[in-house]
Amino acid sequence: MGEETTTATIQESDVSDETLSNLLHEERHFDPPAELAKNANVTADAYAEADRDRLAFWGKQAERISWAQPFDEVLDWSNPPFAKWFVGGRLNAAYNCVDRHVEAGNGDRVAYHWVGEPEGDTRDITYADLKDQVSQAANALTELGVQTGDRVAIYMPMIPETVVAMLACARIGAPHTVVFGGFSSTALSDRIQDCDARVVITADGGYRRGAASALKPAVDEALQKCPDVRNVLVVKRTGQDVEWTEGRDLWWDDVVGRQSVEHAPEAFDAEHPLYVMYTSGTTGKPKGILHTTGGYLVGTSYTHWSVFDLKDDDVFWTAADIGWVTGHSYIVYGPLANGATSVMYEGTPDTPHKGRWWDIVEQYKVTLLYCAPTAIRTFMKWGSEIPAKADLSSLRILGSVGEPINPEAYMWYRETIGGGRCPVVDTWWQTETGQLMISPLPGVTSGKPGSAMKALPGISAVVVDDDGKPVEPGSGGYLTLTEPWPAMLRTIWGDDERYRDTYWSRFKGLYFAGDGAKLDEDGDIWLLGRVDDVMNVSGHRLSTTEIESALVSHPKVAEAAVVGAKDADTGQAVCAFVILREAAGDGGDDIVKELRDHVANEIGKIARPRQIMVVPELPKTRSGKIMRRLLRDVAENREVGDVTTLADSTVMDLISDNLKSGSADED
Ligand code: WT7
Repeated sequence: MGEETTTATIQESDVSDETLSNLLHEERHFDPPAELAKNANVTADAYAEADRDRLAFWGKQAERISWAQPFDEVLDWSNPPFAKWFVGGRLNAAYNCVDRHVEAGNGDRVAYHWVGEPEGDTRDITYADLKDQVSQAANALTELGVQTGDRVAIYMPMIPETVVAMLACARIGAPHTVVFGGFSSTALSDRIQDCDARVVITADGGYRRGAASALKPAVDEALQKCPDVRNVLVVKRTGQDVEWTEGRDLWWDDVVGRQSVEHAPEAFDAEHPLYVMYTSGTTGKPKGILHTTGGYLVGTSYTHWSVFDLKDDDVFWTAADIGWVTGHSYIVYGPLANGATSVMYEGTPDTPHKGRWWDIVEQYKVTLLYCAPTAIRTFMKWGSEIPAKADLSSLRILGSVGEPINPEAYMWYRETIGGGRCPVVDTWWQTETGQLMISPLPGVTSGKPGSAMKALPGISAVVVDDDGKPVEPGSGGYLTLTEPWPAMLRTIWGDDERYRDTYWSRFKGLYFAGDGAKLDEDGDIWLLGRVDDVMNVSGHRLSTTEIESALVSHPKVAEAAVVGAKDADTGQAVCAFVILREAAGDGGDDIVKELRDHVANEIGKIARPRQIMVVPELPKTRSGKIMRRLLRDVAENREVGDVTTLADSTVMDLISDNLKSGSADED
């Protein structure tokens, strides 16, 4: 890592300094409500039980799942880092999520209270409905020639058909890759190509911010670069005009609607691929994280049941998009495997007004709410009087995910949304972990504002120093996982070497998550953010390199450096420094806007830089590595730190002079 070591990043990051000082002064803690503790699904014994025999513990949790053929062995870890869980077991994920609940007499139970963004546009989907629709869609995919093992790309708004499409794929053993609907056509074509999908499922559009927002044009554009895709199934959601490629494009209603509602689910091996989810890494190429079937269902269903203390009459709402792992694990697979009733909401929180979420909580009597700190901070900014208008008394437990939750946001969430009576569970996990890993248990843990607390039963997390040695309480280091877990990623799609290098090479025998963490005096874990070149914007991972590549692909840009700077709303914000090509002159009046739009087009709006600074030079070490730490100082308006390792010591002066003369842009 040269001069810019990961340790330096931990010590110098402003986020961590603030968290550290907060935690030194953090004396508040909240015991579980007595009622909740008394009836909790999981008690403190679970930790001891799992410690005594971790594999027996997971073997027991696997009884939550219906196996067509029982497994012979809980874990095969003879060829690390390639794990096999529930060896020899066979099962069907869709059967576990749908059919078995109908067979158990719960067909009338609502699986989703679906809420469209336009007011009054709602649908309740029961488990029996879901079984019919998933069976029809599975028959349709088979008719289109999709076979076990083939990949299917899904690019959809937040509508019930998205879940149906995923489960139909799972039912026939065709791994799906869901691409977030906010991603651009380039991001979509990259992913389709990487996993070689031949069928794409999409919609004409969806509703966002009060208007129909098109999806199909991005698919049409992406497919110009994906000649192997033979069919596009299009759900009609908005009714807007779409371009149509005869022979390739098919309306979902035409093809799925006429299928039989009978479909016999085939049992697949526990390690059969369930899905690939792309996530940003430290290089420009997104990583296809592979999740398989048996372990993933065990891990997601157990954690959903234990961390949210799921009861029969709960109404669970993960307010996230299905296009991210949170949606896969806690809108789709975990809750459905548990036969739970969920809310699924299509739109934005401020449409048609800023109290939309709270109306939904009141209307459906939501008991368990799961969302990201960035949303909580936005609601704080909008003001407590907005949620105060709704009846939120149904809520029992509040969850947080995606980034460290600052103690202020935790307290606001707890008091304003939870009325002071609901435990807040700050859940740490990743696309790669598939399931919640570090979190309070609501009936056991005395929670501290800002801490994810302890590894869940059956999970082993250790904070280590540079040499991989566990740190003492009161010190910081790197978060690692020391034992395999059921829903862990199995590899990076098509790239075992990158899997090994990225996660298992920094510390021998340990999974390195890429996060810094600190243990407090009680041994509780406080997450300190990423230590690599990955940013976390609104709870979503973006790689600096990916955005740099997008900038450099613009004809006016010679070089680019991107850093994540602290941002009050989004956690981190994308800040870019660019050197223009000589031929581009000063780039013209609108250069900053042009480049920001370019990034949005290349990757998606979520990656649009908050700020782009045109600079004459970038700070580099003698070996040519960009010193991002100095750029972060500039982006966060701090005194610029140690410049002694710069190849050219005057470059930071050049940059600040240039910025003073006014080429910075903020909006
Ligand atoms: C990264 C994973 C897991 C679903 C959402 C994001 C950060 C996640 C927390 C938390 C502090 C958190 C980490 C992690 N993160 N949850 N509770 N406290 N940081 O999934 O895109 O795979 O990102 O998000 O930095 O490594 P993801």
